[in-house]
Amino acid sequence: MFIRPLSRQRSPMPHQRDDAAGHHTGQLHIAVEKAAAGANGPAKVCARDVKVFYGEKQALFDVGLDIPDRAVTALIGPSGCGKSTFLRCINRMNDTIPTARVEGRIEIDGEDVNDRGVDPVLLRARVGMVFQKPNPFPKTIFENVAYGPRIHGLAANKTELAEIVETALKRAGLWEEVKDRLHQPGTGLSGGQQQRLVIARTIAVSPEVILMDEPCSALDPIATARIEELIDELRSQYCIVIVTHSMAQAARVSQKTAFFHLGKLVEAGPTDEIFTNPRDARTQDYITGRFG
Ligand SMILES: Nc1ncnc2c1ncn2[C@@H]1O[C@H](COP(=O)(O)OP(=O)(O)OP(=O)(O)O)[C@@H](O)[C@H]1O
Ligand SMILES: [Mg+2]
Repeated sequence: MFIRPLSRQRSPMPHQRDDAAGHHTGQLHIAVEKAAAGANGPAKVCARDVKVFYGEKQALFDVGLDIPDRAVTALIGPSGCGKSTFLRCINRMNDTIPTARVEGRIEIDGEDVNDRGVDPVLLRARVGMVFQKPNPFPKTIFENVAYGPRIHGLAANKTELAEIVETALKRAGLWEEVKDRLHQPGTGLSGGQQQRLVIARTIAVSPEVILMDEPCSALDPIATARIEELIDELRSQYCIVIVTHSMAQAARVSQKTAFFHLGKLVEAGPTDEIFTNPRDARTQDYITGRFG
């Protein structure tokens, strides 16, 4: 494997709700006993006391959140509340912003992603990212997907590489549409197809976590439905975190929802509870469209 072996030690155990600093509240032990896939499943990513500054300006305040494995976690909240900033902490994309400074801990399977021994390039293969605007490389469809496995040495030969590409395109639900045009440019696909190509490119390097920052906001309703179906299929294998401005989308695709407001995590919990019985008035106002 191209990744430094991880300690398989699991992070602090699941719980019903996180408070703003990530401390467990309520019915913890029951949740632990029943730990299963979904909002209360074992945490893959644990954030504790995460603060992010851009120069002097603080964008995130003491965020604590457990993100379950094999489930979809939705990050919601008004524009500018820090959703993308938080997402970028998980794969250290904030490192690429010169003014950004991150404090606190982000652990994946108990390992601090900011540890000196963690190579950000390898981390970003473990933690793939899909952006709002589909961004295929200016290469062929095949090369878009083959690129990552090739640079990480995941295939022993051309046949194996072709198999990885085919499997990734099949999992991304794109194979049937592109199998006869693999050597045409990826940029020639429709927006929805490009987004599935980007997802195929992401999963081709066998990530553990997939971050999606408003992956459907540039797509029409049909392409959006296709991506949502795909997210639902992928969740059995990955830890997925999605930022969305669509309450309906968060409710459809996620098992856990975290609501951010003005750089703070207001509350997080099982999606159905957040949408039907939020604890905080700000969450209630947001999900009912009173602000944002
Ligand atoms: N590169 C940057 N340099 C300086 N400030 C930034 C930078 N990126 C984000 N910010 C600021 O940090 C805060 C959080 O921004 P962020 O992009 O994380 O919000 P968001 O919740 O993703 O918003 P949106 O829903 O509009 O995408 C905002 O005040 C924003 O202006
Ligand atoms: Mg954003």
